[in-house]
Amino acid sequence: MRNTLFTVNSPCTRPSILPYCERVKERVTPKRFEHIVRVAILTETIAQANRFDRGELRAACLAAVLHDVARDLSAEELFALAPPETELEREHPLAVHGRAGRRIAESWGVSDERVLAAIEGHVFGVAHDNRIGMALYVADVSEPGRGVNHDIRELAMHNLFRAYQRAVNTKVAYLRSRGKTVHPVTLRVYREICGAL
Ligand SMILES: [Fe+2]
Repeated sequence: MRNTLFTVNSPCTRPSILPYCERVKERVTPKRFEHIVRVAILTETIAQANRFDRGELRAACLAAVLHDVARDLSAEELFALAPPETELEREHPLAVHGRAGRRIAESWGVSDERVLAAIEGHVFGVAHDNRIGMALYVADVSEPGRGVNHDIRELAMHNLFRAYQRAVNTKVAYLRSRGKTVHPVTLRVYREICGAL
């Protein structure tokens, strides 16, 4: 895994991001870390394609590196960081891993609200004016290791908002087709951004 981190030209190796990357690596499984590196690389590509400025680019890459830091914690650990707020969260502890990740990032000194909102929102969605969160959300669902959503990845290279709309729409359609409950935050985001679809 060290090879993946240090030989690939990835945002993880940037001096301002590397320390976070190494801390994340200690907290997740090797497979998860590989996913995180792929998401960071794709987030950077999407951000560049959509002409993010330097600050936005760095914020997006940092959010990508941190987004799944809580993903491999136990239910007890997750709930200690992010107590469940809905019945769905009580039944599915992993549902709070975005909020729990935000808490860990805060405890590591991250204070940029754009980064924190993106980490939290990668699970249920972010507001439509949060470009950093949209880039991360889209990269997370379409990174090459998932083997799906190639169309969303391609769309993101020239129209991030459209790609985000499609990603949220796809998620809601999938949940509904399986008879699963859609989290209230996802539903709010869906109504906000997919109303015109
Ligand atoms: Fe995640």
